[in-house]
Amino acid sequence: MPRVRVPPPPRMLPSLVALLAASAALAACGDAPPPAISYGAMAPLTGDAGRGGFRFGVATAATQIEDMNPATDWYLWTRPMDEGGLGKGTFVGDAVRGYTRNLEDLALVRDLGLDSYRFSIEWARIEPVRDQIDEAAIAHYRAQLEAMRAMGIRPLVTLHHFSNPVWVADPRDPYCASGPSDANLCGLGSAGGAQIIAEMAEHAALLARRFGDLVDEWGTLNEPVNYLLASYGIGSFPPGKVSISNVAGDFVPVVRDYIAAHAAMYQAIRAADTVDADGDGAAAVIGLSMSVADWEPARKHKLSTDPDDLAARDRLVYVFHHLFVDSIVNGTFDANLDGVPDEQHPDWAGTLDWLGLQYYFRAGVTGERALIPLLDVTPCFGGFDLGACLPAADPSFCVPRMGYEGWTDGLGDVLLDFSRRYPGLPLVVTEAGISTDVGARRAENVVRILEAIDRARRAGADVRGYYHWSLTDNFEWAEGFGPHFGLYSVDHGTYARTSTEGATALSEIAKSRELSTELRERYGGTGPMTPELVASDIYCGKVPASP
Ligand code: BGC
Repeated sequence: MPRVRVPPPPRMLPSLVALLAASAALAACGDAPPPAISYGAMAPLTGDAGRGGFRFGVATAATQIEDMNPATDWYLWTRPMDEGGLGKGTFVGDAVRGYTRNLEDLALVRDLGLDSYRFSIEWARIEPVRDQIDEAAIAHYRAQLEAMRAMGIRPLVTLHHFSNPVWVADPRDPYCASGPSDANLCGLGSAGGAQIIAEMAEHAALLARRFGDLVDEWGTLNEPVNYLLASYGIGSFPPGKVSISNVAGDFVPVVRDYIAAHAAMYQAIRAADTVDADGDGAAAVIGLSMSVADWEPARKHKLSTDPDDLAARDRLVYVFHHLFVDSIVNGTFDANLDGVPDEQHPDWAGTLDWLGLQYYFRAGVTGERALIPLLDVTPCFGGFDLGACLPAADPSFCVPRMGYEGWTDGLGDVLLDFSRRYPGLPLVVTEAGISTDVGARRAENVVRILEAIDRARRAGADVRGYYHWSLTDNFEWAEGFGPHFGLYSVDHGTYARTSTEGATALSEIAKSRELSTELRERYGGTGPMTPELVASDIYCGKVPASP
C-alpha cells in the first residue's frame, strides 16, 4: 500500500502551541542555538537528597533477553505445537542469549558510561515449580549483581515484567475448569487470586532477603494496565483470557488482585530488605512503572474538539494513567471506573516511594463507539481502529514496526500532569525508546526524549532519571523479533552485539553529563525525524480509504 504523506504543520496540541509560541519568540531575537542541558550526578530515587540529581540508565526484561528459560508461560505460549507448546506468535526460544551473556552485556552498560541498569529477575527461573526454589538461578542473579557492584552500576530490579511461572496461570487451561491446584493457580481475579497474591509477596520477600545486601531499588510491577489488558483483557499474552467484554464482572477483579499483589510485595520487601546496600540511608525504595501515552481526542481519524471525545480522552487517561497510582497512593479502589473511589483498602495506602513512567507514542481516543464498554471509549490501540487512529503529524514520526506515532515531545506534558497530581512523588522515566533500523532515528529519540524531560523539569517536575529501552534488540512479546529496540543490534545467527548511533549519542551524553548544543542541533527539536521506510500494513501515517 502506498504511503500517503501528511503535510506538516502538525496538529495543534497544547504542548505544541506553547512550543510554537516559544520558537516565535526566539525567532524574533534571531535563531539562537539550543542551549546545552547539564545534569547533576546520580542521586537517590527518593528523598530530598535525590532532588536535582539525574541518572542515565538502560532497561531490559528477563523473558525478552534470556536463554534457557522453559518454565515461563511465554516459552510454553510461543513454543511450536508439534513440540508441545501453544504455537502463538514467534517462539521466544533462546531470545538473545542474555542469560549466558549477562556479564558481557553488563560490560556494554559500563562502557556506555551509564549509572544504572533496570532489569527483571525471572520468577519462573527462581521458582519453576510451586514452592521449589532453584538455588542455581539465585546464584546466577547474585553473581550478576556482584558484577554490577564491581562495575559501579546501580541495579533497579523489576520483580514482575509480563511473565509468570506456568503454575500461576497455565495458558493450556486458562479458564481452569477444575479450580486452583499447585500446577495451575488459575490466574488473577479467579478463585486462586488470593494464593497468587500471597505467592508474589513470598517471592518478593525471598528476593529481598537474598539480594537486599546488593539491591536497594525495587520495582514491583511493569506497566500493569498494559499487561492486564493483553493477558486478561484481549488474551494476546498468556494466559490468554478474554474478559474485556465483561469489564465489571471479569476484568475489574483481575485489576483489584494485581493492585493487592503490588501492595503485598511492597510490604514484603520493606520487611525483608533491611540492608542499605548503597549507603544512602535507605535500605529499600520501592515503586512501579506505568505505561503512559499522549492520548488525543479523535473522531473519524481526525483530531476532535467534540465534548464527547474530550470526555472519552479524560476517562481513558484516568484509567490508563491514574487509577492504579491513585489506588496505592490513597488506599482506595474505584471498582466501577467512574472516577470516584468506592472501596477502602487501607493496606494499599502509601505503598509507593517512586513512580516510573514509560512512554512510546501518541494516539487518539474516541467517544463515538465503545470498544471498552464500562468506560465508553475506543482508543487506537493494539491494532483496533474504529476511527480513533490519527495519521502521524509528520510521516517521519511514524514507527512503522509498531504501528504508532512516536511523538517524543508528548512525554513533557505527561510528566507535568503526574507531578501536579502526585506532588512529592519522585518520578523517573523507566522506559522510553524506539523500534528502528535507522541509527539516526534512535539518536533522535534519545535526544528528544531528554529534551522533553528537561522541559518538564524546568517547569518543576521532580524527574530523577531516564532509562533507555533497551540495551539490545530483543523479543518484543506478541510482535516477536521484528521490532528492534536495541542500542546494540543483535545478529540472530551469532548473537553478536553491534553498537548503533543511538548508543554513541547516549554514551556521549551520560559520560559528559551534558546534552550539548551540537547534539541538540543534530538530533533534537520537534521537526521531522530521519525517515524510516518499511513496508507495513499497520495503521500509522496512512490516511484510511474511507473515513
Ligand atoms: C514494555 C517492554 C516492551 C517495550 C517496547 C514496554 O511496554 O515494558 O517490555 O518491550 O514497551 O514495546
